This record gives sequence, C-alpha cells and structure tokens, in this order.
Amino acid sequence: MNIVAICGSLRKGSFNRMLMQALAGFAPAGMSIKEAPSFAELPLYNADIQNGPGFPAPVGTLAEAIRAADGVIFCTPEYNFSVPGGLKNAIDWVSRLPNQPFAGKPVALQSASPGPLGGGRVQYDLSRTMVFLDALTLNKPEIFVGSCASKFDEKTGEIKDETTRTLVKQQLEAFGKFVERHGAKA
Ligand SMILES: Cc1cc2nc3c(=O)[nH]c(=O)nc-3n(C[C@H](O)[C@H](O)[C@H](O)COP(=O)(O)O)c2cc1C
Repeated sequence: MNIVAICGSLRKGSFNRMLMQALAGFAPAGMSIKEAPSFAELPLYNADIQNGPGFPAPVGTLAEAIRAADGVIFCTPEYNFSVPGGLKNAIDWVSRLPNQPFAGKPVALQSASPGPLGGGRVQYDLSRTMVFLDALTLNKPEIFVGSCASKFDEKTGEIKDETTRTLVKQQLEAFGKFVERHGAKA
C-alpha cells in the first residue's frame, strides 16, 4: 500500500514536516509512506494561466503522485484558524485538472501547532474542501499535536511524546484498514 504525504508548511524547521517524516517509522506492515512532490514553486492559482500557457508542470507532478497513491495523508499547520495559503493554492490547482486526483481518494489529516489545540480548526476546513473534491476522509482517530515544540526532538525530528507516538500508530493502522475498505486506484 503506497501512501503519499503532503506537508502544509514550507519552512525548513517545520514541526509538521517532522511529523510527516516520522510517519514511515510508525506505519503498519505493508504500508509505505513517501513525501509528495513539492508545491512550493506554484504560482497563485489564476484561470488565465490555466487557459493560456496551461497548468504549471508541478501541478501535474503533484496530481500524478496523488493518483498513483492508495491514500493521502496531510500534515499541516493551521494559519489564522484555516488552511495555509500555499497548501490551499496547491489543492486549488490540482482540483482544476480534468479527472482531479482527490476523487474517491482515502485521506487522513494530521496537524501540529505550538498552541494547545494542535491545529483543531484547520482540519475542519481541510475536511470541508475534501468533501467538495469527493475524497474519502478518515474520521477517527484524530491527530492534533498540541504544544508541539515539546513533543519533537528538534535535532533529530523524532517524536518524543509517547501519547503522540501511540496516536500516530493507531491512526496509521486505522487508515490502512480504511484504504483497504474504500480505496481503489483511480
Ligand atoms: C500566518 C500564520 C498564522 C498562524 N495561525 C495560527 C492559528 O490559527 N492557529 C495555530 O494554532 N497556530 C497558528 N500559527 C502558528 C503556527 O502553528 C506555527 O508557526 C507552526 O509552527 C507552523 O507549523 P510548522 O512548524 O509546521 O511550520 C500561525 C502561524 C503563521 C505563520
């Protein structure tokens, strides 16, 4: 089972990237988790680009990685109670492709934040977007890594917090079963 992970943060020291990169170590047998191609270089969505020069190449690359995967895991910060602009822009771009890649795709959500709620609100907004795109979003268990600065080893990126490690393991197991039940490659 091949899972692609998308990090909603572009910064080097991102806690969400640490979370994403730690996932492979907690995956159940048979599940591989790889990072999605970057969306960092995408221009802001503009229909004039789409209808003129066409979709920028990274849009197709990202969409292909999503299509080829059995499932997608988002690890994202919350910006101003919602989805970071860069991530939303990337989703907006791929959503305009014919045969957009999220349709029927199993999706799991994770967020990390230095705040106490761990990005509780971004997941509601991201899951609404996934509803519009006909993705199949796993409901439980949820992963909100609150007070995240204390839960990672900032040098190694390792998850130090035992509760977080357990939750991540549980969500990946649940997601594996969810993908088996619902997933079918597009
Ligand atoms: C523009 C901006 C808006 C933010 N808004 C929120 C917010 O609404 N809720 C929250 O918990 N943290 C918020 N933060 C703090 C981020 O959670 C924090 O910077 C986090 O470390 C970003 O994730 P990263 O470490 O993966 O880059 C915001 C940060 C930025 C830059």
